[in-house]
Amino acid sequence: MRSLSSLVIAGLTILSRVTATILQNGQVKPTNYPDTRINLSAQSFETYPANSIEISYQGRWDSKYVSWWSAPGIRFGYTGQTVAITFGNLTSDGVLVAYRIGGLDWMFTNVTAGGTHLLVSPTTPGSALTAPINPWTFELRVTNWAYGVQITAVHVGAGDKLIKVPEFDRRIEVIGDSLAAGMYTSYEGLSSWAYGLAAGLGNTEYSITAYPGICAADQDCWGNPRGQVHQWFYTADTSYRASVLHGEKPETWDFSKRPAADIVVINIGTNDQNSHNNVSTPIYIDSLTKIIQGVHGKWPNAQVIVMSLWLGFYQSGNSYFPNAPQGFVNDIYQMAQMFNSESYLSNPTVYDGVEKKIWQTNKKTKPFVHYFNTTGIMQHNDIGPQWHPTDVGAIKVASHLQQFIRMTFGWDFQAAGPEVLHDTLYWNDEPGY
Ligand SMILES: *[C@@H]1O[C@H](CO)[C@@H](O)[C@H](O)[C@H]1NC(C)=O
Ligand SMILES: *[C@@H]1O[C@H](CO)[C@@H](O)[C@H](O)[C@H]1NC(C)=O
Ligand SMILES: *[C@@H]1O[C@H](CO)[C@@H](O)[C@H](O)[C@H]1NC(C)=O
Ligand SMILES: *[C@@H]1O[C@H](CO)[C@@H](O)[C@H](O)[C@H]1NC(C)=O
Ligand SMILES: *[C@@H]1O[C@H](CO)[C@@H](O)[C@H](O)[C@H]1NC(C)=O
Repeated sequence: MRSLSSLVIAGLTILSRVTATILQNGQVKPTNYPDTRINLSAQSFETYPANSIEISYQGRWDSKYVSWWSAPGIRFGYTGQTVAITFGNLTSDGVLVAYRIGGLDWMFTNVTAGGTHLLVSPTTPGSALTAPINPWTFELRVTNWAYGVQITAVHVGAGDKLIKVPEFDRRIEVIGDSLAAGMYTSYEGLSSWAYGLAAGLGNTEYSITAYPGICAADQDCWGNPRGQVHQWFYTADTSYRASVLHGEKPETWDFSKRPAADIVVINIGTNDQNSHNNVSTPIYIDSLTKIIQGVHGKWPNAQVIVMSLWLGFYQSGNSYFPNAPQGFVNDIYQMAQMFNSESYLSNPTVYDGVEKKIWQTNKKTKPFVHYFNTTGIMQHNDIGPQWHPTDVGAIKVASHLQQFIRMTFGWDFQAAGPEVLHDTLYWNDEPGY
């Protein structure tokens, strides 16, 4: 079997921004996004500091309002037609962010460390429309997992104000590696299946604690110093950026900062199963078990969906067939069955990843671990040359997960209109073929 060389990139230090090419059906995609930087001192604004209660943060942000992991974001309501943001010096200079008004299409811009960017003005599409949804909401998401932004201040027009908008009462957490982080999809985190799943369900808050190359097992995998069985309990990811900003003093994630997730989707093990990382089956299963017990400890009512692993495809004769992961396929299924056994449910175990302690709860519980079989969802051309789902592959995984969640938990689809995935409008406008 070919090695998953793409995963090597994962977690390796990316010191300076590289110029890369994004292909859409073999054509180079333009990435010259509008320059939104302005001179702050030349404007008169109402300014709100990063800790203002009107600003709602999604995903993981640290005590200095620096973002981590995949597709973290902010959201707030505002009056007027002006929104500008000052990004702190701890921002990855030039990082691409997506932002939008209400449910309109995402817009993109590269933001600068220490710079102020004017993101909404009277000429921004949608700015002058009447609002069926009041107030106007503004949302921003970081597209890349390895980079982040630091929020220093949010500005609106003189005499205007920020408004706190209520958070949605449904919450999804996705725990994973590059596959969930959106590596090699066109807008990375914003094209990932993890984002497509949660944003596509609509009216759902989401947090994607996924990082390329990371294992479940707590060991170095492709340059990520720790595995998810450790890192998920911490605010920052395993990036080089985190080693610089959090290396000395890692911040533990304060789970009380946000309401508990209702559904936790876990897709981890692709890096563990790679012989390069030498993770044994017992260590992998122990780590995945502890991640689930960690989730259950933090959020006792969360439902956990464990996904089966997939790799790419190979051609044999006149068709294509899936490469089987080097192990773990049956072990993950058996682990899920163990969680659903009477003996486990009558006395479940929880785990604290910071204290590294495991204990019995003595609390009888209902089954909360669900197995999601990915086999057959993607076909050979849904995995790109870099061994990750294409945009279409990601959409398939997201769509099937949404339907699974609807059928298993009775969640309805509440997006029904707003843009979820950007730049996916491929179609045929030729009626006369
Ligand atoms: C920003 O605006 C102030 C006030 O108009 C001006 O003094 C300063 O030179 C400007 N800075 C830049 C970098 O344009
Ligand atoms: C903006 O971000 C995109 C995606 O990372 C990148 O391809 C592009 O080079 C960046 N542009 C600038 C001016 O930094
Ligand atoms: C960035 O750092 C410079 C120099 O330390 C400081 O003057 C400036 O206020 C900082 N800007 C922000 C937005 O934090
Ligand atoms: C892989 O793990 C086995 C068992 O833990 C150990 O004996 C072996 O030395 C390891 N190999 C590498 C290359 O680390
Ligand atoms: C997953 O689905 C495939 C294809 O339908 C099937 O062959 C396999 O047995 C399933 N695995 C489990 C554990 O149900």
